[in-house]
Amino acid sequence: MGPPGFFPRGSRGGGFHRRGGDHGGFRSGHGGFGRGGRGGGSDHGRFRGSYGGGGFGRGGRGGDSDHGGFRGRYGGGGFGRGGRGRGGGGRGGKKTNVEPHRHEGVFIARGRQDTLLTLNLVPGDSVYNEKRVKVEENGEKIEYRAWNPFRSKLAAAIMAGIGNIHMKRGSQVLYLGAASGTSVSHVSDIVGPEGIVYAVEFSHRSGRDLLTVAQKRTNIVPIIEDARLPYKYRMIVRMVDVIFSDVAQPDQARILALNAQSYLKNEGHYIISIKANCIDSTANPEAVVANEIEKLRNDKLKPLESISLEPYERDHTVVIGIFMPHSKDDSAMETVK
Ligand SMILES: C[S@@+](CC[C@H](N)C(=O)[O-])C[C@H]1O[C@@H](n2cnc3c(N)ncnc32)[C@H](O)[C@@H]1O
Repeated sequence: MGPPGFFPRGSRGGGFHRRGGDHGGFRSGHGGFGRGGRGGGSDHGRFRGSYGGGGFGRGGRGGDSDHGGFRGRYGGGGFGRGGRGRGGGGRGGKKTNVEPHRHEGVFIARGRQDTLLTLNLVPGDSVYNEKRVKVEENGEKIEYRAWNPFRSKLAAAIMAGIGNIHMKRGSQVLYLGAASGTSVSHVSDIVGPEGIVYAVEFSHRSGRDLLTVAQKRTNIVPIIEDARLPYKYRMIVRMVDVIFSDVAQPDQARILALNAQSYLKNEGHYIISIKANCIDSTANPEAVVANEIEKLRNDKLKPLESISLEPYERDHTVVIGIFMPHSKDDSAMETVK
């Protein structure tokens, strides 16, 4: 595969639809991220177009894809904001058809409404009262947990059609801004018992819930520390494959860079959720995001892809990239070669 380009994308109808060809060919996105703003262009990861592009129409379909293309409505019954699913145990029943999503470790329950799922690492246990879905496969009972994109930036990014989450079974993940561990628990499902999730959270209140989650999920290592001070957890954290950062702080790019310099493998990946108005509520959100991306580049965190989290989160953009600490050539940080 050729060098990774930068794929800025806005919300797309229904998310999940298979890209037109292996290398993407994305159309919408965030104008103005690339140095010198490359519009136009064609496939193979070219930066194309301006922010927003296709709307994410409620009830819109993500096209006709296979590969785990998500076909459902994002809202409606599947996930109500704050709504409870069916009580524990789920009622997957015979009618629930679970398919693997194109992101390893993520699944989709086909039904009246499609639902994003992860394989429950701790069968029988819900973490935040989420719905569980049981299915029988080859005579074996398997339990999944529903993953609500209104409650998780990573799930929202998947729904919005993110190209690669860079996490799979066995991955070592450093998660900054773990809060109570709801999203962390799904990452724990994805990486499985062979993987590990170092979950950093500085709020003691949220940290208490996180500790409870980690008691049952032994691949989560809770770290109640300030992510601005990564040396404080140097005795605990090993080098990781990916950093997921969701601290919602004005200096979040710096926080990510500090942690990458300490713990991210060379050419490891990062995923950062950027909430424009928590960085500068007076500036144009697109300009704020572009500025954050420039900061990441300057810290050898080459951006590869961005995606708006509308309609799940307002004014949030997720940026995915690769850490290239030894790159002396500035042009290597460019989005497209
Ligand atoms: C937007 S919330 C994270 C939500 C979580 N990722 C999820 O999807 O459930 C941001 C979290 O980052 C935590 N946080 C903010 N600054 C931090 C820092 N410097 N170090 C560690 N945690 C921080 C906050 O306490 C808060 O729980």
